[in-house]
Amino acid sequence: MMSSSKACKTMLAEIDTYEKGPLIDLGSGWGTLVIAVAQKHPNQQVIGYELSWFPWLVSKILKHSLRLDNLTLFRKDFKNADLSTASSLVCYLFPEGMVALQEKLVDEVFNKVTIVSNTFALPLCQPTRVIKLRDFYQTPIYVYHWPPK
Ligand SMILES: C[S@@+](CC[C@H](N)C(=O)[O-])C[C@H]1O[C@@H](n2cnc3c(N)ncnc32)[C@H](O)[C@@H]1O
Repeated sequence: MMSSSKACKTMLAEIDTYEKGPLIDLGSGWGTLVIAVAQKHPNQQVIGYELSWFPWLVSKILKHSLRLDNLTLFRKDFKNADLSTASSLVCYLFPEGMVALQEKLVDEVFNKVTIVSNTFALPLCQPTRVIKLRDFYQTPIYVYHWPPK
């Protein structure tokens, strides 16, 4: 599954560029969202973490053909990644993935970070806002500002 074009557009609009630090996609898949982020923010470091080798390989080929020098794509579990310096995190995961993300945020992230999640909410955190896409499922996009107040 990849984020729809409506979801990508909405998520891109919510990314925070005021804070310094990389913009990170936690599960970058075929590169749909992370490439759109890197194209919109050519002067910022953009990182994607992806577990599955085939989508990761395709995204690497796309990155090179589009000459996105600001984009780094790791074949790696985001649970083992350093998220402490990120300015924005984007994701389209699944409920257990959001539990793992919440645990990582609590344990490791003390900077201000904006989190934009397609479809799935963080289990123990109140979103700053929820945008319902005008699609068949009224897909929610959750926006969080970490640390919570
Ligand atoms: C629904 S896709 C979303 C792809 C892309 N972010 C988008 O929005 O189009 C979720 C991706 O997260 C990857 N993923 C799931 N758990 C992961 C983990 N712990 N670390 C890295 N990638 C993970 C999956 O392999 C899958 O490719």
